[in-house]
Amino acid sequence: MSQNTLSITDNRTGKKYEIPIEHGTINAMQLRQIKVSDDDFGLMSYDPGFKNTASCKSTITFIDGEKGILLYRGYPIEQIAEKSTFLETAYLIINGELPTKSQFEEWTYHITHHTMLHENVKKFMEGFRYDAHPMGIFISTVAALSTFYPDARNIHDPESRKLQTYRLIGKVPTIAAAAYRHSMGLPYVYPDNDLSYAGNFLNMLFKMTELKYEPNPILERALDVLFILHADHEQNCSTSTMRVVGSSHADPYVAVAAAASALFGPLHGGANEQVLRMLNEIGSKDKVGAYIKRVKEGEVLLMGFGHRVYKNYDPRARIIKRIADEVFEVTGRNPLLDIALELERIALEDEYFVKRKLYPNVDFYSGIIYQAMGFPVEFYPVLFAIGRTVGWIAQWLELLEDSEQKIARPRQIYLGEKMRDFIPLEKRS
Ligand code: ACO
Repeated sequence: MSQNTLSITDNRTGKKYEIPIEHGTINAMQLRQIKVSDDDFGLMSYDPGFKNTASCKSTITFIDGEKGILLYRGYPIEQIAEKSTFLETAYLIINGELPTKSQFEEWTYHITHHTMLHENVKKFMEGFRYDAHPMGIFISTVAALSTFYPDARNIHDPESRKLQTYRLIGKVPTIAAAAYRHSMGLPYVYPDNDLSYAGNFLNMLFKMTELKYEPNPILERALDVLFILHADHEQNCSTSTMRVVGSSHADPYVAVAAAASALFGPLHGGANEQVLRMLNEIGSKDKVGAYIKRVKEGEVLLMGFGHRVYKNYDPRARIIKRIADEVFEVTGRNPLLDIALELERIALEDEYFVKRKLYPNVDFYSGIIYQAMGFPVEFYPVLFAIGRTVGWIAQWLELLEDSEQKIARPRQIYLGEKMRDFIPLEKRS
């Protein structure tokens, strides 16, 4: 008997089955042969929240949640965050290898030359109320790009996919910055092609009357590293959404808008916004103990803590903590940091958190940096979405080239009424 199999005995029938094991998984469709009778549909697996279901084979990002390891295309996140730039990382994530010098120049040129928005996109954005949530503006505007680029529906054409990749990576900072300026009642700023990706983003956000905006190099680098840290994280909620929408062969703009919608939720990318609200609610270091008590009593969650995959310190949180020190050298120390450090100290020693393996995740410290850099809390998920757009695109491209992929369509366990006859309204009691 081959060792790479799973022997199953169905105690309902006494029948035995041999199911192949490949890459530490069994193919769920193999379960369907397990039936109690010929007209039985066959066995399925039940997995709400996909806690133990692999939906794809991927070569992009590796996470070892127990050890706290994160690799993009095999490279440790710590090395990338230290030595690379966001655009180089984007090339790596999308193409699978680090670029040569000429490949990198070409890549940078194309992305830089796709940062402009059609003037009608700007008019579309002007229609939002002054207090519209920037993530709502971001999501809607990315979806609206689908109407500006109908060629994007040629998803089977590699050249078209490449063009949409440049457009999406190039335009998301411009849309994000315009969403910010809209909420501040400020005119939108055109991209400056002389600046880096993060430097130009800062320019589009913060340029006022000066002729040429000069980004602070420390803040520029900090933002670039934050984009790197958010660039991909395998099959999380928003990336799975990207793949689900992409699996119906929708165009990448609506798929990215859907993925960004998933990111908006407070249990996912909206968590950094919630962390800031939580730290403000706590108010001071001496109130941390009382807040932890409420968390343990199940009254509130400790936002920015816990992760479906990491059962150890999130390696991104460690890097972000370091960036915070550099940013505070420029902006001054954010007083919320003391509350966050105290929360972390108590939580890491407390039996409740230790037992459940709850550690700070990427969102725990990022909000404190964003606040110090002058961003309003509503803007934090938008910043996350800029970096993550790269991962969404890479996963979408991988999906389209994977012959094993089908339209996503889970099964259900139906527990509702059996078939029954309709009763007209006048006869219902
Ligand atoms: N605070 C307090 N208790 C928590 C927290 C938390 N932040 N997270 C999990 N727990 C507890 C749960 O109540 C549960 O306890 P129980 O076993 O007594 O019922 C146990 O830890 C396991 O938690 P689950 O919710 O089953 O874990 P799951 O993997 O489903 O959820 C999630 C992961 C959603 C991230 C969760 O930890 C959470 O809600 N965290 C707060 C929100 C947050 O920071 N999200 C950002 C995640 S990172 C990202 O998306 C970029």
